[in-house]
Parts: sequence; C-alpha cells; structure tokens
Amino acid sequence: MEQVLLINGSPKNKNSTSLMLGQYILRKLSKKNFKTDTIHLLSMLNNNLDEIFEKISESDLLILSFPLYVDSLPSHVMKFFEVMSKNNLKHQKIMAIGNCGFPESFHIKTALKICKNFAEKKNLHWIGGLAIGAGPMFNGRSIEEMGFLTRKLIQGFNMVVLSIIRNEEIKDDAKILVSRKVIPTWAYKLIGNKSFKKVAKMNNIKIYDTPYQ
Ligand SMILES: Cc1cc2nc3c(=O)[nH]c(=O)nc-3n(C[C@H](O)[C@H](O)[C@H](O)COP(=O)(O)O)c2cc1C
Repeated sequence: MEQVLLINGSPKNKNSTSLMLGQYILRKLSKKNFKTDTIHLLSMLNNNLDEIFEKISESDLLILSFPLYVDSLPSHVMKFFEVMSKNNLKHQKIMAIGNCGFPESFHIKTALKICKNFAEKKNLHWIGGLAIGAGPMFNGRSIEEMGFLTRKLIQGFNMVVLSIIRNEEIKDDAKILVSRKVIPTWAYKLIGNKSFKKVAKMNNIKIYDTPYQ
C-alpha cells in the first residue's frame, strides 16, 4: 500500500488554505486505498525532528503544501530543507502546492523552483508543483464548498489525484487548471477591502490613520 505524507508548511493548524488543499488530495487518495498522514511542520520542527524523519522515511510520496511568504517559502520550510539536506533520504516522490494572497498565482513560481531544486539536490523524484492564487478566500473552507468558482480548480486537483494513482508526473494541463484565477481581481479586491474594514472596526482602528507619521 502506498503511503502519502502531507507536510503542512503553514504555521496555521486550522483554517489554513495549505492544509485544506493538501487534505483534498489525501481524502481522494485514501478512498483509493492509499495510506495517508499529515504533519504540521512548524510545531514539529523544534521538538519532534526524529518523528518527522521517521514519517518521511516511511512515505512513498511527500506533498509539501505551503503559503507564499514574501515571494518565497516561510522560514520554517527553508529550515526544514536545511535540516533535511543533512539526512539521507530514499528516492521518494515529492510534489509541492503553493498558495498566495494575491489573486494571480504566478507569484509562486520562484518558490516552486526552490522546492524543485531541493528535490533534485536530494535525489528525490519531483512530480510537479501547483500554484494557487487568492488563498485567503478559502479561509478554511474546502474547495468543494465554493460552488462554481472552484470548478476548474477541482477539475485540476482531480487530474493531479489521477496522476498520483497512475504513478505519473503531474500533467501540465492540471497545473494550468489549478493556477487559473478563481475570482476576478476586481471582485477579490472588493471582498478584501470589505473584510479589512471589518477587522479594523473590530480592533477599533481607523483605516486611514497614520500613527507612525
Ligand atoms: C508574513 C506573510 C507574508 C506573506 N507574503 C505574501 C506574498 O509575498 N505574496 C502573496 O501573494 N501573499 C503573501 N502572503 C499571504 C499568504 O500567502 C496567504 O494568506 C495564504 O493563503 C496563507 O495560507 P495558509 O492559510 O495556508 O497559511 C503572506 C502572508 C504572511 C502572513
């Protein structure tokens, strides 16, 4: 039975888009008799390094799902790469899922290249990277709960699942489908501005205040 490990690169253990996207794939795979497990990188990196290694060495496929931080990977994911680079890994398959705050997914390209570079340096089998924009829009909701907005995203993710089942690399068509905008930029901005104002009001902050000037 193939074993798949989801490595959640978000510091959030709940309402995390990285976690939600990875778990969608795990759910589909567990229905096809794959054995699945999840680790939350940040909380385990300092205290449970041995457990991380154990889980990784037992796995056939690693799925690293991360949020884009300042156009790159979060520092604890970089630390994970550094720690892992000192250890022997078997020739596991690895894929990455990046999601970002901007509605366009191209911002994630460099971060995915860093993941691919790590995989190649460690002689892991890179099966592909996915880039998803407008991550905060999900806010913990699964892609199935978003109605027609995410139909292409779901279609792309299902193609990814199929490739994993068939032991193939992720198809370019799937990468393109998942990277399409789920919402037009103007609508995303409208929703974003509304929620900024709501959070500001909740915290008693006036949005046009300039306290540091
Ligand atoms: C410290 C920090 C830096 C970020 N940098 C970027 C960035 O450079 N580009 C971007 O599009 N989104 C950026 N974001 C937004 C996150 O990538 C986005 O909210 C993502 O959906 C979070 O995923 P998560 O829920 O799995 O943590 C940043 C968020 C934080 C907290």
